[in-house]
Amino acid sequence: MKIIGKYKGRLGEIAIWESEQTGDRFYREGEIFQSQSSASGESRFPYVKIMEAFLSDANSVLLLGCGGGNLATMLARQGKSVTVVDHNPVSFDLAKRFFGLPKEILCIVADFREYLLAETRIFDGMAIDVGGPGFCFEEQFDPATCQSITARLKPSGRAILNMLVATDFDAAPDMIGGDLSDGHMTSWIFDHPGRLNRNVLIACLPRLRRAANRRCMAKFSKTVGCGWALRRPRQPSHGNKPVVVDTCTS
Ligand SMILES: C[S@@+](CC[C@H](N)C(=O)[O-])C[C@H]1O[C@@H](n2cnc3c(N)ncnc32)[C@H](O)[C@@H]1O
Repeated sequence: MKIIGKYKGRLGEIAIWESEQTGDRFYREGEIFQSQSSASGESRFPYVKIMEAFLSDANSVLLLGCGGGNLATMLARQGKSVTVVDHNPVSFDLAKRFFGLPKEILCIVADFREYLLAETRIFDGMAIDVGGPGFCFEEQFDPATCQSITARLKPSGRAILNMLVATDFDAAPDMIGGDLSDGHMTSWIFDHPGRLNRNVLIACLPRLRRAANRRCMAKFSKTVGCGWALRRPRQPSHGNKPVVVDTCTS
């Protein structure tokens, strides 16, 4: 592996690595690998491929979080109209220079929560993949932010959010899944119970399409690959708040 670029990130040093064997490229910010892709920008991360598949029917897509821009590139290559938001302007330059992000994609530099409050457009699909060193999911995705997310979807729209959890005791996916289900959307959780430091996906569909949603999720869960378990967010029982493990480092 060799380092082909080093930059100052908002949350730590960003280094772009390249594998001399495969040509794969890696976007590392602080201690976290934000993106990994083939030389042509196809993500190697299974969770990114699931996000791409979940949005296959959407024409207009809003992506929160650019990193190497792999998901944006993959969706744009399918002919979708893609808007990407990231608070780090460097990520757009790196995504174009090292990962093949198409130049015509609309790139907006903003904190995703401020952007959501200011945006008035609505989209067929949203992919939310923000994070990095010190990022705290339960703080960032509070009920008001979850509401701002679902407010930017068309009535028939769908959204999928990636988050990191440390252990099975982390209740943040259930809390965020529950908050995304308040209103006109309902959500499901794709998880890998038992694994440490794993990706968890929260998928949201319109609440009123119950039977169609059940069919859609049953079919979709067969395509996501082994190891992923599908469930609904767990409701905290009376007087028994879910445990939020303090994994926030900021
Ligand atoms: C995991 S990467 C996204 C990877 C991308 N989905 C891909 O396929 O290559 C996460 C991105 O979220 C961005 N980010 C972190 N906090 C943010 C915030 N508050 N607002 C906007 N972007 C943020 C980081 O700068 C980073 O580029």
